[in-house]
Amino acid sequence: MIIMEIDLRLIGMEKGKQYETIITTVNAQNVQNAAPIGVLCAGKDIVLSRIFKGGKTLDNIISQKEFTVNITHNPELFTMSTLGNLPKDYFNEDNSIKDIDAYFKCEVISIKEAVKQSDPIKKKDEANVIKSKVTEMVINNDIKAANRAFACIIETLANLTRFDIVDEKTKQYYLSRFQENSRVVNKVGGKTERLTMNEIKKELIKKGYEP
Ligand SMILES: Cc1cc2nc3c(=O)[nH]c(=O)nc-3n(C[C@H](O)[C@H](O)[C@H](O)COP(=O)(O)O)c2cc1C
Repeated sequence: MIIMEIDLRLIGMEKGKQYETIITTVNAQNVQNAAPIGVLCAGKDIVLSRIFKGGKTLDNIISQKEFTVNITHNPELFTMSTLGNLPKDYFNEDNSIKDIDAYFKCEVISIKEAVKQSDPIKKKDEANVIKSKVTEMVINNDIKAANRAFACIIETLANLTRFDIVDEKTKQYYLSRFQENSRVVNKVGGKTERLTMNEIKKELIKKGYEP
């Protein structure tokens, strides 16, 4: 179904949160490409992405000034497009992925050098931040875009429930997992998710640990 009034909230995308998507692009020779990319919702029809240099997705976005954001929870699509490209017959003519739950098309507003960084990558000047406007939206099935914060919180809670019955080495491992999950939640989550992680942190402090 083509959506007449574009609004990212229709696919569960809230302002300020980052979602994991598969971006499909084409190059000047019309070769289609797919890669998983995080998309930050910056308004009902505005998105931001930080894309590392050296990949096809960034090159194609710079040359074509447009791209397609595919919304799915299919782990095979994420894996195939991470380990290589999707096979040709997975793409529609309009560059969306066949039988995808939802997708939206974007036009680039601006491309800037990335200055801020919240993940453990050594160099800071190796990415571009792309700001784009959503120009078309298609929803085939009821779906909410994937957000990593939920999985991080569930993992952290599962570890918390085991905390008192594991040895010291495993406790230290869980504390390091807490730190990494916190980093991801701060990056991709919203206020509720951040507050939740803070509640878990308080529990760990009560147990005598400072994560
Ligand atoms: C869930 C997930 C999210 C990702 N998000 C990003 C991202 O936001 N920016 C980025 O540059 N790479 C991201 N990547 C890594 C790219 O998908 C990966 O580097 C890919 O090989 C780029 O392929 P390309 O050459 O087809 O563009 C992500 C990977 C995964 C699995």
